[in-house]
Amino acid sequence: MCGIIGYSGRRLAAPVLLDSLERLEYRGYDSAGIAVLDEAGGATAVAKSNRKVADLVRQFDTDGMPPGHTGIGHTRWATHGRPTVLNAHPHRDCTGRIHLIHNGIIENYRELRAELLAAGHEFLSDTDTEVVPHLIEQHYSGDLARAVRTALQRITGAYALVVMSADEPGLIVGARLNAPLVVGLGDDEVFVSSDITALIPYTKRVILLGEGEVASASPQEVVITSLDGTRVEPRIVVVDWEAEQAQKDGFPHFMLKEIHEQPQSLDGALRGRIDDSGFVDLPDVALDDDHLAALDQVTIVACGSAWIAGMVTRYAIEKLARVRCDVQAASEFRYGDPLVDERSLVVAYSQSGETADTLAAVREARRRGATVVAVTNVVGSALSMEADGVIYMQSGPEICVAATKTMVNQMACGLLLALRLGQARGTLDDEEHRRLTAALLAAPAQLERTLALEPQLAEMAQRYSHMRNAMYIGRGINFPVALEGALKLKEVSYIHAEGYAAGELKHGPIALLDPDVPVVALATRSRTLPKMVSNIQEVSSRDAPVIALVTEGENPFDDGFVRDIVEVPLTDELTSPLINVVPLQLLAYHVAVVRGCDVDQPRNLAKSVTVE
Ligand code: G6P
Repeated sequence: MCGIIGYSGRRLAAPVLLDSLERLEYRGYDSAGIAVLDEAGGATAVAKSNRKVADLVRQFDTDGMPPGHTGIGHTRWATHGRPTVLNAHPHRDCTGRIHLIHNGIIENYRELRAELLAAGHEFLSDTDTEVVPHLIEQHYSGDLARAVRTALQRITGAYALVVMSADEPGLIVGARLNAPLVVGLGDDEVFVSSDITALIPYTKRVILLGEGEVASASPQEVVITSLDGTRVEPRIVVVDWEAEQAQKDGFPHFMLKEIHEQPQSLDGALRGRIDDSGFVDLPDVALDDDHLAALDQVTIVACGSAWIAGMVTRYAIEKLARVRCDVQAASEFRYGDPLVDERSLVVAYSQSGETADTLAAVREARRRGATVVAVTNVVGSALSMEADGVIYMQSGPEICVAATKTMVNQMACGLLLALRLGQARGTLDDEEHRRLTAALLAAPAQLERTLALEPQLAEMAQRYSHMRNAMYIGRGINFPVALEGALKLKEVSYIHAEGYAAGELKHGPIALLDPDVPVVALATRSRTLPKMVSNIQEVSSRDAPVIALVTEGENPFDDGFVRDIVEVPLTDELTSPLINVVPLQLLAYHVAVVRGCDVDQPRNLAKSVTVE
């Protein structure tokens, strides 16, 4: 989704903005632009492109960087209006003195636009955003923050925005409602951004803006108020991410780097959460045993890969804590009539902690009295602030749009939660608890060994990259892993793929199989392995080539029966998704590379989806 950066300070603004926009590229976008105020408060230099940030950089190589020290920059993921240069942000008022960038959707823009047109304002774009600078212009009389607050009171929808006026050089004003925005505090400089990742090379001190708050930021002072102008005490956090974590580090793509980071990242999710006696301890989730024991149900809400991680968790929670657990796409939950109440625990999974549907689902759950636990990667994200308890995924920044290491950590955090619930509810005996935590603690090293399969998967990718369709099948806790394998392939290589519960294959999708449709089968050690083997036999009889994931040394197939065998380390069935997903990530990655796809920023996708 749209990326936002505002800067004011001692450096030239344009290079900072362009550098930050490059860091924001991972969010997914289709056009970009910047505006820089000149020192004397005169003209504003604006550059826009309907291509990549590199195209903006090229424009400046030719024209030279504008000299100003205050500016705003934006990467746009089109919602209202095509991704053209005219629709690219920043947008301006009629005077050309107020410029604004925005992420979100102005839901009442049609009425506002009609009203502003009638009042004589001129519009240049098809965007919903453009009404905002004109509204601000109407209320502006030398105090930008005040004009922004007044204008925003007319707006319904979601926004994170940053505005500057040529009449107040040195000042940037940011505001947010249902979309992320943070203020970065530097030495004699200040930043406003949608994303901490853009700021980490410059500062680690960040003010988290709350819903409906406005920041009036200059290098000398940052004032936070609510929309009615009441002063709000700033919430400052220090971020522990390092700038180099957001670099490719010699890997050709972030996706590959993040796949390879998974052993350390998984270690991060477990660190400090399993005590010396082998029991799970989740100090951040301040829920007492009586409360957990009295729960009637657990509902997991999430989107995308996080939703799939939730499905994996469901198996673990129902098995270990013997409580009904359902998993709902947040976009369905929020508009349904969800059956949750005071005796429900709602667990929201979101890497970014900013996904609009997940946040809305959490608000709905809380309105109905449920207790909410967030599983998120971003300290200070909206989700972390709205939940009753948080389990941080501790993955470090994930830049590739397609989730890999964070999805593994979501599954790991889900297993920890399932163990904690089982313990509190008395449904999990100590020996089993310790056996499973030992399996979890062994998983990072096993994951490391699984990464050594990469050359085999890269070779397979050469042979399968021409495929137009693929099927992924699994059973039990590995059924969601099949869904994730198919999702990864779709996302990064644009090949149609479906994930299916293996037993359901014969009820429809088997009709699609022929020698051109490879079937990736999760056939590692499990309670249902014999059934899985029968399902694979059904597939093979239809001449579909099979790629089978099996446990090392336990290949259940006769020689030559399946086309490709991928052997993964033995682990418990409950922890097997943490390992089994890895070859599927590597296969998707290498197929995408062979096909020449833009792996880190797949077409039409965004890293964090901050609109409905
Ligand atoms: C987008 C990303 C997915 C991600 C999903 C949920 O669709 O492309 O990779 O799984 O959002 O994101 P979240 O930040 O809520 O985990």
